[in-house]
Amino acid sequence: MTKNTLLGRDIIQITDLSKDEIDAIIQRTRAMRAQVLSKEASSLLAGKIMAALFYEPSSRTFGSFVSAMQRLGGGIIPLNDMSHTSVSKGETLEDTVRTFSAYADVIVMRHPDVGALTIAAKYATVPVISAGEGALGEHPTQACTDLFTIQEHFGRVEGLNVLIIGDLAHYRSTNSLVKLLAYYPGITLSLVSPAGLPIQKEVREYLQNKKVNFREYLDFRHVLPDADVLYVTRVKKEYMSQDLYRKTHGSYILDNSLAEKMKKSSIIMHCLPRIDEIDTGVDMNDRAIYFSKQLQNSLYVRMALLSLVLGGNQ
Ligand code: CP
Repeated sequence: MTKNTLLGRDIIQITDLSKDEIDAIIQRTRAMRAQVLSKEASSLLAGKIMAALFYEPSSRTFGSFVSAMQRLGGGIIPLNDMSHTSVSKGETLEDTVRTFSAYADVIVMRHPDVGALTIAAKYATVPVISAGEGALGEHPTQACTDLFTIQEHFGRVEGLNVLIIGDLAHYRSTNSLVKLLAYYPGITLSLVSPAGLPIQKEVREYLQNKKVNFREYLDFRHVLPDADVLYVTRVKKEYMSQDLYRKTHGSYILDNSLAEKMKKSSIIMHCLPRIDEIDTGVDMNDRAIYFSKQLQNSLYVRMALLSLVLGGNQ
């Protein structure tokens, strides 16, 4: 077995992971999928505890990390609303992570402020895994999920045409995903957002520096027929003014008449929650894999990450 370089590591940004480590995560994720589908109980992480400290609402990331730890036989400290902790009394982030470092073997944290995860990793004495950071930050474990989903569907990532539409200004999942896709040669990226919500300058510069073939558009209909992957994002109301939300909400709504313009082999992804940017009629379209694959993969990927960071052998 090759050396597990993720043992004891923090995962804050997707670029914390090398291409070899991404390959190791994909390999371990396949093993975790087989483990879950076998219905056999696992004790891989028996005796280990995960503290899930969520300073922002979450259903999938919180639920899948908790499920992942429990499916591997580990224990959990599940705090999905930090306002019910001593944070409400004014405890600092530094002191909170010091505290949970004493109780847990790994901290999984979601936080609204970019930079908070870096502070947490500095003060924690156990590994810290980001569960999503800020409007402008990253969501590396979601990107690993999305990459795994693409890899397993097509049997490759190289050379695919990926179209991402929606609020690209406030989307931490796609911030991480496009950087991750840049690891793969021959990727074509079409990034489509309404006026006022383009990808961040830092992300654009990253793609330029990595010489990724990408273009930005205001409309997606002309690029839809070429896409292998359509990744839809919601407009993030919680991170913008009411005025900007009014102007941008509903800019893109994917319905079956549009979905049918896509290749038969293409897939439609969304990291969820979905509001109304994908018509519910699309859920039954063969291309739609957000409920049928992407959600399940988020469990397998987080099992893989926890087992690699905590050192469970597989
Ligand atoms: N995809 C995702 O991060 O969903 P939650 O906000 O529900 O965790």
